[in-house]
Amino acid sequence: MTGNKIAICPGSFDPVTKGHVDIIQRASKLFDKIIVLVLVNPNKKPSFNEHERVDLLKKATFHIPNLEIDFYHGLLADYARDKGAKALVKGLRAMSDFEYEFQQSLTNKILNPELETLFVNTSSEFMYLSSSMVKQVASLGGDISHFVVASTLEDIQNRLCKGEE
Ligand code: PNS
Repeated sequence: MTGNKIAICPGSFDPVTKGHVDIIQRASKLFDKIIVLVLVNPNKKPSFNEHERVDLLKKATFHIPNLEIDFYHGLLADYARDKGAKALVKGLRAMSDFEYEFQQSLTNKILNPELETLFVNTSSEFMYLSSSMVKQVASLGGDISHFVVASTLEDIQNRLCKGEE
């Protein structure tokens, strides 16, 4: 890669967790610019709309300088081409993530042959963490402060505890 190295951290981010921020922060040290991209996962019904997810991401990552947060309703491969991004960075928690991620990576490579997917292993402290687990704990009145960034805690809690999904 030459020139400005742009990578995309794609995901549902429904909502962003400490595990996501860890991956974004580490990716931001490897590239000139990271676009954190909120996308539609057709297999999931989101609890937060895309504007809410973008706002939470902004709150959770304001300390990372070389980030742009965006959302897109189309194909990730097309967005990457439009932005001149040559890499996707995704976190892998365990082998159980691998098959699904590998399938997506191969699909994206067919749709945009210029695009490489780089997998970053999740830090051990976040191996267990997922957005769906956060939603389940919050909706049952549990403490989610271990799982989400402090600046997003109230928004996520208020939203999910009130059952406004
Ligand atoms: O956080 P997730 O839900 O595992 O992220 C999956 C996501 C949103 C990155 C994936 O569903 C996606 O890329 N959606 C956009 C549509 C697309 O490009 N699909 C083809 C590649 S699988």
